[in-house]
Amino acid sequence: MDSTIKQIIQTIFNNLKDELDVNQKNILVTGGAGFLGSWICDILVEKEANVICLDNLTSGLKDNISHLFNRDNFQFIDHDITKPIHFDKKLDLILHLSSRASRGEFEKFPIQILKANLLGTWISLGIAKKYSCPLLFASTSEIYGNPPPEEVPTSEEYYGNVNPIGPRSCYDEGKRAGEAFVFSYYLQHNLDVRIVRIFNTYGPRMRSGDLYGRVIPRFIEQALKNQPITVYGDGTQTRSFIFVSDEVEAIIRAALLNSARGKVMNIGNELEFKIIDLAKKIKNLTNSNSKITFYPLPKDDPLRRSPDTSKAKKFLNWKPKISLEKGLELTIKWYRKKMQIYK
Ligand SMILES: NC(=O)c1ccc[n+]([C@@H]2O[C@H](COP(=O)([O-])OP(=O)(O)OC[C@H]3O[C@@H](n4cnc5c(N)ncnc54)[C@H](O)[C@@H]3O)[C@@H](O)[C@H]2O)c1
Repeated sequence: MDSTIKQIIQTIFNNLKDELDVNQKNILVTGGAGFLGSWICDILVEKEANVICLDNLTSGLKDNISHLFNRDNFQFIDHDITKPIHFDKKLDLILHLSSRASRGEFEKFPIQILKANLLGTWISLGIAKKYSCPLLFASTSEIYGNPPPEEVPTSEEYYGNVNPIGPRSCYDEGKRAGEAFVFSYYLQHNLDVRIVRIFNTYGPRMRSGDLYGRVIPRFIEQALKNQPITVYGDGTQTRSFIFVSDEVEAIIRAALLNSARGKVMNIGNELEFKIIDLAKKIKNLTNSNSKITFYPLPKDDPLRRSPDTSKAKKFLNWKPKISLEKGLELTIKWYRKKMQIYK
């Protein structure tokens, strides 16, 4: 296994020492071959849970999980979660992460994205109800849309400012409806549910390229190839970035701790960063000769994004630990190696 990947798994594993008791528990991770799902599978397998990773490999990769295929406590099911499925053993926990999640995919696969977050969530909830097991739903900061300045940092109390028929609405409204579905099962059936609103997460295993390329992998790849670094708008729009080890630790805590039952929590890093400054930082860290070039800002792109994470800090006994600098160094190291391997 790649040394950076090993190091990150060890970090998450150590940070979770106290909270984790998943020994022999049957845990379903939908979207388990994706960026976040594969890290979650890694940790749960290491902790001796029986992990069922369900994925239709649309945006996920077998490469992310192939090192787990020889583990007795890991099973991969190639399945589309929008279609019914039967399990022959009782499940103890479901983490529902299945959904394409990149801007390029919003334009190309809007119907599949809506289906994953509506039908896929409904099917996952039905399974959780059948086995009376907790379900964690991976929601997103995008449910807030474009908040006004007085709502940044954004708390869970803010209801959002979202275009229901724009180019991003399949994702933004799909996740909002997914949350409504999850909470309806909580209210009507008293199902044990937890919702995490994930803010921009980055790290090794994120896919790059036009379709999948979220901002950090795109900038890193462009910088490493000495190609122009493409900034949309003038770069003064902001995002807050959290390293994958911090995000995955919080998601697993939210799935396992009783204090998260029935709660909705922002999971991210509060530090707000201008996209132009991110481009410059990545250019420096990669010693790149790339020029920074500017393109028009896409429709409905949020101008500011930063979470209020006081709720997660309180209920999960957690806080992000990895600085942007350190996280970028680890991520760049991984991409550098990957690009050499695939050259
Ligand atoms: N990474 C982030 O910064 C971020 C931010 C906010 C929310 N999220 C949410 O977290 C979850 C995981 O995101 P990610 O970054 O790992 O994305 P990803 O695209 O890497 O992972 C999603 C996984 O879901 C699978 N999938 C998609 N549709 C499916 C279906 N119908 N049936 C079965 N599997 C399906 C994909 O093949 C992929 O493996 C998503 O729900 C996403 O919306 C992620």
